[in-house]
Amino acid sequence: MSNNQISDGQPTINSSAAAKRILTGIKPTGTLHLGNYVGAIRPAIQSIQNSDDEAFFFLADYHGIIGCYDPAIIHESTKAIAATWLACGLDPERVTFYRQSDVPEIPELAWILNCSCAKGLMNRAHAYKAAVDINMKKEDVDPDQGINMGLFGYPVLMAADILMFNATHVPVGRDQIQHVEMARDIAGTFNHRYKTLFTLPSAVVDDDIPLLTGLDGRKMSKSYGNTIPLFGDGNPQVSAEKQMHKAIMKIVTNSQLPSEPKDPDDSAIFEIYKAFATPTEIADMRAQFAAGIGWGDAKQALFEKINTEIAPFRERYEHLMANPKELEEILQMGAEKARRHSRKQLDKTRRAIGIRPLAKLK
Ligand code: TRP
Repeated sequence: MSNNQISDGQPTINSSAAAKRILTGIKPTGTLHLGNYVGAIRPAIQSIQNSDDEAFFFLADYHGIIGCYDPAIIHESTKAIAATWLACGLDPERVTFYRQSDVPEIPELAWILNCSCAKGLMNRAHAYKAAVDINMKKEDVDPDQGINMGLFGYPVLMAADILMFNATHVPVGRDQIQHVEMARDIAGTFNHRYKTLFTLPSAVVDDDIPLLTGLDGRKMSKSYGNTIPLFGDGNPQVSAEKQMHKAIMKIVTNSQLPSEPKDPDDSAIFEIYKAFATPTEIADMRAQFAAGIGWGDAKQALFEKINTEIAPFRERYEHLMANPKELEEILQMGAEKARRHSRKQLDKTRRAIGIRPLAKLK
């Protein structure tokens, strides 16, 4: 894997080379698909399995409410996404796994950081600018129409998530690099103004992670409606395995007949197969394409390949979804671990800015 550490120009404060602290947030909106699994869940879980790094993974539900006003969706997605990560092998003993809203010190720190963050910095955030650009293209519409303060201040809450735990490495997708850079900026301003308290974080982007192709040949994305679900949608009539099989059978192909040689590099089936198979299996599938494997057989082979990896997780997922108490206990254990850090960090921060008890009471 080639991990690119972005913004590594300056030395990070408080962090020796040995003490890597990895932190990443997961926005709980909707359910996850195979692209999320291959692009985020699997690499994140694998990367910490083989290292001694400290790791903090959390459900960013206070970020989730910025663009979703449906309480049922927020609640259900938090549950489904916690269950997904745990089912796919996240070990809550190894990783501090918590829900952002269970750590009240985070939004408190966010307010403090707001006061050390220039408004102009937020004006430059890509997500905010994109929302303004859409409004500007319309006639008679205020540039800020429909934009709430949560969206505008999104990077400050994210800075609080990161700086709270003095994270050194923040694995993110490309779209989030700017936010990590902003966290770094905000930390720099605070450290300069008060005292050096926060570690300067670096974004880590993995260039080797495959982007999956969707059923229609475009990039697999919830907004295109072209995804293969990772787990089922909970419908008791159709098993999760059947749902996955059905989706795979819908992958769009050309009209070449069985026995006609096919170009693997022009096929979504092969593209997805590569993300699950060993080099030998990939070479073998390439040969089968050249020999004219039928589309139906190729899809079946793809299904079997994916299912071998996912089936064991499915059982655990379904168990956790049916036992929310177990999930809640795991999240509470994580919150307790997280708060051991956050209480101290917030206390230090408050003292640094002059907010502390006037006198010691007995
Ligand atoms: N903004 C991230 C996303 O949309 C989620 C997130 C919230 C996050 N807080 C974070 C990621 C802190 C890394 C670090 O994907």
